[in-house]
Amino acid sequence: MKFLIINGPNLNMLGIREPSIYGRQDFAALLKLCGDTCDEAGIEYETFQSNHEGDIVDKIQQAYGVFDGIVINPAAYTHTSVAILDALKAVGIPTAEVHISDINTREEFRKFSYVSLAAKFTIAGHGLDGYREAILRLKDLIEAN
Ligand code: DQA
Repeated sequence: MKFLIINGPNLNMLGIREPSIYGRQDFAALLKLCGDTCDEAGIEYETFQSNHEGDIVDKIQQAYGVFDGIVINPAAYTHTSVAILDALKAVGIPTAEVHISDINTREEFRKFSYVSLAAKFTIAGHGLDGYREAILRLKDLIEAN
């Protein structure tokens, strides 16, 4: 099984960025957590981070026929990007949506997620551990089908 783990804009600034919301662990720690989780679960993986919407769309398109699952934190594009939603629908790869913070208890504009319309499930507000939960739950879901 092979997963693509996508992180959207500003997630590369973890540790520096609004630590009261996103914590003090940096992006390297997040990548290590994802890598360790995949290794333990026997999942091959690739990680991708971009601050550019079109690059994320390109990456999702290129995942077709290559990856079995996508774990994505689209960051701010969650709330704006029909293009990322459409790309996920186009490739039809089972997708898990993750948010470090609880988008439902923050500003109104964060409550709506385009990506959730394509995702099998969403994990929000569990901090970096949410990625671990998402990877393992997505694996179980794919294996059950
Ligand atoms: C985020 C929540 C988004 O609203 C925000 O724009 C982000 C990060 C999260 O992980 O909590 O950049 O996706």
